[in-house]
Amino acid sequence: MKYNQIKWLILIIPTLTIALWEYTRHAFLLPYISMEAGNILSPILVFVITLIFVRHLFHLLEKIQEELRTEKAKKMVLVEREKLARELHDGIAQSLFLLSVKMNKLGRKHDLDHDPEFQKALQTMQHVHSDTRQAISNLKYESNEELFSWTDSIQHNITELENTHSVSIDLDWHIHENSLSPKEKVELMACIKEAFINVIKHAGTDHVWIEGKETKKGWICLIKDQGIGINQQTIEESRGFGLRIIQDRAREMGWSFSIGRIHEETIMEIKKEMA
Ligand SMILES: Nc1ncnc2c1ncn2[C@@H]1O[C@H](COP(=O)(O)OP(=O)(O)O)[C@@H](O)[C@H]1O
Ligand SMILES: [Mg+2]
Repeated sequence: MKYNQIKWLILIIPTLTIALWEYTRHAFLLPYISMEAGNILSPILVFVITLIFVRHLFHLLEKIQEELRTEKAKKMVLVEREKLARELHDGIAQSLFLLSVKMNKLGRKHDLDHDPEFQKALQTMQHVHSDTRQAISNLKYESNEELFSWTDSIQHNITELENTHSVSIDLDWHIHENSLSPKEKVELMACIKEAFINVIKHAGTDHVWIEGKETKKGWICLIKDQGIGINQQTIEESRGFGLRIIQDRAREMGWSFSIGRIHEETIMEIKKEMA
């Protein structure tokens, strides 16, 4: 039923009820129901009819209003995301592109093609560029994707990572959609992505295993590779922020985090355990 129809029905039903009742009473029921009893029955009848029908209609009206509100909120989120994507694209992404052109020019001018420091700087910039592009496409893509499940979305992200970096990923995901809050989903996805990029950057392998399992008290997520391996010293000596950021994210969410080498495998573990 449409909003307007419901509104009119709410207005008409009590009036119609009283008109019908009064007509029937005066035309047919006078010999059976006294005037006094009829006067008492009239408001009761209107009240009962209102209770049964009008209340139901009010409920419908509220539901329609609620739907409209959610629709509007969703639209606003979409608009905001679109705006953010555009700003990222027109601002940061363009500047990065310009910077890369300038750096390449600089490299040619000073013959830096074989300078490892310069190549590293170029590589870092390419990473930042591709991360920014990824963020832009996520902003655009995930907005349409909210209708689908997060498990579908993780699958989509993995396929995209596989295609962009030409690596093979074994995904074994059994964490149920409802076991993760929306914030947890975002944070966990960011951690998985960083761990994955680390494997590509540092492990010297093109095979990654990503596992998610439910446990008795929560869940556990593992990112594994069989590459060159990791030890405490490399982590301490590294000047990167990736692992520190994962650690901070995990601490903030109340998860435990660890990374280490077990039986020829580098394993990063994020675990949630409820008390
Ligand atoms: N899967 C991995 N295999 C081998 N080494 C790794 C792996 N993940 C991280 N590392 C090591 O840990 C260091 C810290 O990683 P991170 O904090 O992400 O910094 P970044 O990636 O910017 O170097 C890296 O420099 C690398 O030496
Ligand atoms: Mg890193």
